[in-house]
Amino acid sequence: MRYTDEVQKRRTFAIISHPDAGKTTLTEKFLLYGGAVKLAGSVAAKKRQRQTASDWMELEHQRGISISSTVLNFEYNGFTVNLLDTPGHQDFSEDTYRTLMAADSVIMLIDNAKGVETQTRKLFEVCKLRGIPVVTFINKLDRFGREPLELLDEIEKTFGIQTYAFNWPIGSGPSFQGVYDRMKRELHLFQRTEHGSYKAPVEVKDVHDPALAEMTSPMEYQQFLEELEILDVAGNEFSREDYLAGKMSPVFFGSAMTNFGIQLFLDTFLPLAPPPTPRLCEENGVVEPDQEEFSGYVFKIQANMDPQHRDCIAFLRVCSGRFERDMSVKHVRTGRTIRLSHSHKLFGQERETFNEGFAGDVVGFSSNQGLFSIGDTVCTGKTIRYEAVPTFSPEVFALLRNPNTAKYKQFTKGIQQLALEGAIQILHLFDAIGQRSLVLAAVGQLQFEVVQYRLEAEYGVETVLDPLPEYTHARWLTGSKDALENINWIVNARRAEDTQGRPMTLFKGEWALNYMLEQNPNVQFHPTPPVH
Ligand code: G4P
Repeated sequence: MRYTDEVQKRRTFAIISHPDAGKTTLTEKFLLYGGAVKLAGSVAAKKRQRQTASDWMELEHQRGISISSTVLNFEYNGFTVNLLDTPGHQDFSEDTYRTLMAADSVIMLIDNAKGVETQTRKLFEVCKLRGIPVVTFINKLDRFGREPLELLDEIEKTFGIQTYAFNWPIGSGPSFQGVYDRMKRELHLFQRTEHGSYKAPVEVKDVHDPALAEMTSPMEYQQFLEELEILDVAGNEFSREDYLAGKMSPVFFGSAMTNFGIQLFLDTFLPLAPPPTPRLCEENGVVEPDQEEFSGYVFKIQANMDPQHRDCIAFLRVCSGRFERDMSVKHVRTGRTIRLSHSHKLFGQERETFNEGFAGDVVGFSSNQGLFSIGDTVCTGKTIRYEAVPTFSPEVFALLRNPNTAKYKQFTKGIQQLALEGAIQILHLFDAIGQRSLVLAAVGQLQFEVVQYRLEAEYGVETVLDPLPEYTHARWLTGSKDALENINWIVNARRAEDTQGRPMTLFKGEWALNYMLEQNPNVQFHPTPPVH
């Protein structure tokens, strides 16, 4: 039995954007249109009353950013939607990368006044590298922004892709009138009414409706008609194939805050976006999502999601077959057979039992202490192993101390837990006489703040962080026993090891790294932990 129908109706995607482009607002409006939240107020109102379901950590609230990812699930027009929430802060994190890997497609959200910003650029590069299809939503049309044609041009030039505008705005800022659906040849009129908790009414008109010319200034109307002509004559033709291959981005205009263009977007985007795609695995090549044998992998682990439960959730993306609560599967890394019980569907802080799922679904497992690590594959039938989840080479380092010896146990437990989650990497750095100190290693500075905050909030330990700005690079070492025992050390490199006891070196500057490489031709220096 193949599960084609179930797979075909699933859409698993993430939103990438620069902070403040409106990701929280757009997410909230998707939930509103998907019927998943009944009381989606404006973001401002929500910030005062209660947080958006995806925005649960207090630090996130304080900083107004979304640090940790969670999964939001809703039904829309016969589609089962899984929205993977990615962190939206300035620092690029491994968590974001892994979440993007677990998505089948991505929505790139752009502020119409700001255009392509740094964080969006970095995240888009990841999508491009992996060939993930990207749809663009240009937001805040109710406010003055840049010329739409200029924005398309910027997207095309920055990312080296083609664009195809599915709709086109008429007027901008205070005189914004709505968008024209180029496929259906209908104009959707924008109404400046109270927005937020209900779906915006949509009035549809023909583009040559005389009433339209009256509503806009003659100049704006003329500009709109000219731009449409430019797009028709000189613009790209739409190709779904190119979109799915990551070569073309369909573009939509709208305003998340005023609920405008959300329905139009969902109605077009969901049929357009790819259902769960075949996944690569190490031994057998490709796994089809609708095959009978079940398989999935853990892309994220998160401790203490719910302060009331204080447990640790492993997020598993189903890649093929049918997931059933309590089923027995092979845990490939350990070779053991395990039962997949304690399965949850998580919605912000709320959770309900997850009984059945198919490719594209994300299942959260609680009470998994020590059972799952990031990247673990589980399957039935023939053993497969999904491609290793990539890790990044740390670039910032800091000593972490616990000044209160009475809290030693909590400190150790917290650190171990956060390292298991992949929130941070933990190393031991050795001094000249072999004394070791605990060093945190991360890709970005914000990860340190998060770890300190969480140690205090979740484990009750106040810690002291001493940055080690002199260290810039870390390498894992492999080589023969003899080569590793007779390393030619230099002054600007220090011996270290990771929590699994694998030998490492930290370097003060790129020069030191290159010099060590030259001095030790028989040792291999790896930017990330060697897999075997
Ligand atoms: P983020 O998650 O991407 O960081 O952005 P978020 O949704 O929090 O939105 C950032 C700001 O942009 C918010 O304003 C939000 O109200 C505003 N915004 C989002 N979509 C639109 C839109 O379509 N039009 C306009 N005009 N504004 C939009 P804020 O002032 O920072 O917060 P608040 O006081 O509104 O809560």
